[in-house]
Amino acid sequence: LSSIRVDVSGVEQGTQLTVKWRGKPVFIRRRTQEEIDKANAVEMSELRDPVARNANLAADAPATDANRALVPAGASGAAAEEWLVMMGVCTHLGCVPLGESGDFGGWFCPCHGSHYDTAGRIRKGPAPQNLPIPVAAFDGETEIILG
Ligand code: FES
Repeated sequence: LSSIRVDVSGVEQGTQLTVKWRGKPVFIRRRTQEEIDKANAVEMSELRDPVARNANLAADAPATDANRALVPAGASGAAAEEWLVMMGVCTHLGCVPLGESGDFGGWFCPCHGSHYDTAGRIRKGPAPQNLPIPVAAFDGETEIILG
């Protein structure tokens, strides 16, 4: 019930797709190596919200970049951290953040100024939590199932 399949074969590195799922936007971004490196360079102690907020992991899983990424079947190395799938709903009051914006090169919510990094983790502004990652899985290399 209410699962959807999304074909991501046309999504180039450094771009994102926004799909509607259960009435809400979901951001599917194929990150560049630079975005991944930037997210990995952040110390856990710098994060306001230290947990991954990833519905596919334990509730207390730390907010490392690897724990935020969605891994295609059989992917390893850089390809394993390329994909970021998260709800496009600001954890402050629910506006839709803008991509490739803000002080951390990730997302920026224009409603009250929340800045998210390249792993969708809250870094500055009033939002309390990282952008949530929904139940999702790759089916093969080019299809993502949400829900
Ligand atoms: Fe995003 Fe307030 S709703 S900062």
